[in-house]
Amino acid sequence: MVKLSKRLSLVAEFVPYGSKVADVGTDHGLLAIALSQSKHAKVVACDINKGPLETAAENINRYGAQNIELRLGNGLDCVRPKEVDVIVIAGMGGETIAQIIQRAEWVKSHEISLILQPMSSANKLRRFLYTNGFDIFKEKAVYDNKRLYSVMQVGYTGEIRSVSPLYFYIGAMGNNGGIWEREYIKTKTKQLKKRAKALETVERKRSEYLELLDIIEQLEEIQMKDD
Ligand SMILES: C[S@@+](CC[C@H](N)C(=O)[O-])C[C@H]1O[C@@H](n2cnc3c(N)ncnc32)[C@H](O)[C@@H]1O
Repeated sequence: MVKLSKRLSLVAEFVPYGSKVADVGTDHGLLAIALSQSKHAKVVACDINKGPLETAAENINRYGAQNIELRLGNGLDCVRPKEVDVIVIAGMGGETIAQIIQRAEWVKSHEISLILQPMSSANKLRRFLYTNGFDIFKEKAVYDNKRLYSVMQVGYTGEIRSVSPLYFYIGAMGNNGGIWEREYIKTKTKQLKKRAKALETVERKRSEYLELLDIIEQLEEIQMKDD
């Protein structure tokens, strides 16, 4: 059995048993292998580069994994609508993940569950999701390799809700009282305080500064409730 990092283990945990999965940006293919072996998933594993697909093919061979099809292509271009019910996009920047989703109109379906794990710009990804009819149903944090990562389960609702900018920073983390979710919120608060301090005396950034103060206050309230 393949052993996943803590980050990829949390991603795998979000995938229901027996799913038909697209693993976009599969790279080494280890997640696809783990899903096929421990979740009985059928996986279309895609990557934009040939090299990673060659490594994935070697790993599939090495672990004797089945039910994985490797495909070369940009984002979801190589996946046909209705072919999958779960789309995993992990280990890429939040803006790249948003672009991949935006390019595939068919993802706007109530039948599809997206499991997303941004390496950076999670706030930009969440903003894109909330303003394009998607909702974050579940979100957890994991500490791996000296970093905190977010993993979110997202679905299309078609409803464009006006959410507080607070949710661009913490998504659905506030609904989850676990140790790493609390740590994520604490870290985000520290980062925003630092940013607010830097803007304190910049007159042309006044409205951004005031918005940040408001968000920080809401974050502190969430943390007080948790204590
Ligand atoms: C850092 S690796 C992440 C691998 C794995 N998903 C993980 O989380 O460990 C990113 C992979 O995504 C691929 N990639 C980047 N942009 C892509 C795109 N637009 N479509 C498909 N694959 C992409 C890269 O070639 C690379 O193999």
